[in-house]
Amino acid sequence: MSHADDHEGTRRDFLYFSTAGAGLVATGAAVWPLVNQMNPSADVQALASILVDVGDVEPGTQITVKWLGKPVFIRRRTQEEIEAARDVNLDDLPDNHDRNANKPGLDGADENRSMDEAGEWLVMMGVCTHLGCVPLGDGAGEFHGWFCPCHGSHYDTSGRIRKGPAPENLPVPVAAFIDETTIKLG
Ligand code: FES
Repeated sequence: MSHADDHEGTRRDFLYFSTAGAGLVATGAAVWPLVNQMNPSADVQALASILVDVGDVEPGTQITVKWLGKPVFIRRRTQEEIEAARDVNLDDLPDNHDRNANKPGLDGADENRSMDEAGEWLVMMGVCTHLGCVPLGDGAGEFHGWFCPCHGSHYDTSGRIRKGPAPENLPVPVAAFIDETTIKLG
């Protein structure tokens, strides 16, 4: 690598981090309560795969776990949330892609994003696709899913972007149930 390349790489890194930092500073109040719910132990952070016990997660609630240094939302949806997510005209989606690492390349239908066929479980990276803030959950925003207050991105009950500057749906990471109450991430 030449000196010029080296310099350019450093500059890119700097720009990336300063942009992400600006997002976090702008939303300090919104970010901290969520961060406090996570389990940011260093050993967990370092693992490529983690097991998450979801046996105590009630319908209509979610947990946030930290995986690969990032928050992951695991929500057990109510029937109303599932119906709201499935009763959407796909032409109304700003990003009509499933953004699901488990079923890549499909359209943005909720059936292509939920973990199970019935749609009870939704697992997504908790990172806004605009500039990387952690959206607020539990029915937040105009579409009763998640809301990122940094610049006003509204996600629906399937985690799909519906309004605001975020360009893409919240991504679904590689995830699977390995038994009735355990989800493996990665
Ligand atoms: S980071 Fe800008 S709206 Fe979420």
